[in-house]
Amino acid sequence: MHRQSDDRTDRADQRSDLPVLPSHNTARSALTCRYRCGDACSHEAPNRSLNPYFGDIVQRALSRRGVLKTATVVALATGAGTATAAATSSAPVSGTGMRPPRGLDFEPVAPNTADAVTVPDGFAQQVVIRWGDPILAGAPRFDARKQSAKAQAKQFGYNADYMALLDAPHRGHQLLVVNHEYTSEQIMFYGYDPANPTREQVEIAWAAHGLTVLVVRGDGHSGKLWPVTGDALNRRITATTPFRLTGPAAGSDLLKTSADPTGRTVLGTLNNCGGGTTPWGTVLSGEENFNQYFAGAAAVTDPAAKTRLARYGLPQGASERKWELYDSRFDIGKEPNEPNRHGWVVEIDPYDPTSTPRKRTALGRFKHEAAEPRLTADGRVALYMGDDERFDYLYKYVSKHAYKTGDSRAAREHNLTLLDEGTLYVAKFTGDSPATEIDGTGKLPADAEFDGTGEWIPLASGDVSHVPGLSAAEVYVFTRLAADKVGATKMDRPEDVEPHPYTGRVYVALTNNKDRGATGKAGPDEANPRTGNKHGHILELEERRSDAAAKTFQWKLMLVCGDPEDPSTYFAGFDKSQVSPISCPDNVAFDEYGNLWIATDGAALGYHDGLFAVPVKGSQRGHVKQFLTMPKGAECCGPIIIEDRILVAPQHPGETDGATAEHPGSAWPDGPGSIPRPSVVTVWREKHR
Ligand code: FEO
Ligand code: CA
Ligand code: CA
Repeated sequence: MHRQSDDRTDRADQRSDLPVLPSHNTARSALTCRYRCGDACSHEAPNRSLNPYFGDIVQRALSRRGVLKTATVVALATGAGTATAAATSSAPVSGTGMRPPRGLDFEPVAPNTADAVTVPDGFAQQVVIRWGDPILAGAPRFDARKQSAKAQAKQFGYNADYMALLDAPHRGHQLLVVNHEYTSEQIMFYGYDPANPTREQVEIAWAAHGLTVLVVRGDGHSGKLWPVTGDALNRRITATTPFRLTGPAAGSDLLKTSADPTGRTVLGTLNNCGGGTTPWGTVLSGEENFNQYFAGAAAVTDPAAKTRLARYGLPQGASERKWELYDSRFDIGKEPNEPNRHGWVVEIDPYDPTSTPRKRTALGRFKHEAAEPRLTADGRVALYMGDDERFDYLYKYVSKHAYKTGDSRAAREHNLTLLDEGTLYVAKFTGDSPATEIDGTGKLPADAEFDGTGEWIPLASGDVSHVPGLSAAEVYVFTRLAADKVGATKMDRPEDVEPHPYTGRVYVALTNNKDRGATGKAGPDEANPRTGNKHGHILELEERRSDAAAKTFQWKLMLVCGDPEDPSTYFAGFDKSQVSPISCPDNVAFDEYGNLWIATDGAALGYHDGLFAVPVKGSQRGHVKQFLTMPKGAECCGPIIIEDRILVAPQHPGETDGATAEHPGSAWPDGPGSIPRPSVVTVWREKHR
């Protein structure tokens, strides 16, 4: 157990032991950059549009409980508390003289570099499921030295990012739905040769991508969870599972390949990152850095096609994983449209293991992060989505038709069409302070807020394009190019986006952007106010009349992240001497008291990533506290914050510079002598202080 000292000197002392940051572009290890996003930040940011940057202008997750109800509302109505609720204790947080807000009764953990999940005093943890653990009936036990594609297809995949926990039909059980973003071959396979991967290694990687649906059960008196291996609802979806393309671009010539002349059936889903859960009990997952799996863009000579490929960062030469050696669809020279069939939001029905998952073209194609729903005032569904690339955009989708409540077959069939017809928007942010006051240092402008107004600019509605010169199908398939044309605001890597369960305000994690203000790049603006933004920020957006259908909004930066001793940071005006250092916000979630929880991915302050919590209202708005820390090399994914437990997914443990399976960078979770295994962890309060 590590506890954050009340004494700032102690914290400074701890920091002096921190490792020197690696020398490449971000604080992430070179291995993570290579496998997670194809070294995206070593390349030129693909947004070279002249679209101006505006220097001076510039009912969430529902669970299925017989009749569908909002999980958060259910929790409040029954008086349930979060795993971190004050329950019986309301002692002041040491050193602050303040009582903890509801849901945040824990002593922050100190930043550290332990090869462990470190939780606050009084909390316990358990690994629920690890890479390679059996999921389907007949799955063998994991053996890292004898792994096979056949085994992997029945086992838990690699590197979970988004997670949802839904009620299972079986009493006392739940459905854990997680995605598997990417594979780290060098630390997965003994004897791996990146220049010549074997077919078996490639096929293992295909089977380790995708999603898992897993029935889990608790014991009713702790936060422990056990997998129910072989349950009929358990499912693995992989890089070879058939998906149906639906919505306005389905069937378009842009989506046809020699294997699929209809343009409606795709094999597999790749690089699933942030996601969301719908009111009708399905799970959404965004395909993010899909570009890295393809090879051979150099073979394309048509100028328009080259522009499109470049805007999505598709590699000119070989791909990192060399999948093109074993399936020619990954070779753009042979199948130029195959990359167009990836980069979508996928929708999975975890309650029907025989259902064909769908790729929803109405939500646009980009490096998707998040697809969190909120109902409009008239009952339609709005989804908020980030495009995680330096200088890319924030999007919203609003369905044409309203959500139907109830569990009837008719309601369900209707709701499964809601993401196929609607309007896709992109965000433009306008600051309210003079451009001269946004100097790139993070210094607050004279009005003491980075804030302003914004608008949602429509790109397409159903089959109608709102972008001159582009058809509706082109808007959906090449959404980045469409957004470039309408003056969208270039953001600092929009990651997860989450509507507040009660206020409807929308919170956007902008993880970082080392190139903000670099020569030839967009400079600081009020929504992205720091040059070389290393630590990211959290933006709070309030739509007009709090209606998710609104076309305008107001916004402000709630957090400008980093070491609180760094003068460029901002914690909503809260006393910076009391907050935990935080860098590179990524996945975000709310607890049922409306506190924001932030998982980080970047470790740019020199200690490990972690999970943080912060009230968004009241006198402690901005009081960031670190709840847990990650093992070596891992980013913090998930998270899920519910009444009796917190779930996180340590992603890519051991992905450190120079690490291999033979020389692992972490021994988590299995201990010395083992290779690291990305896993899901449950944390709960063991006792009251
Ligand atoms: Fe997969 Fe943008 O993180
Ligand atoms: Ca301002
Ligand atoms: Ca992420």
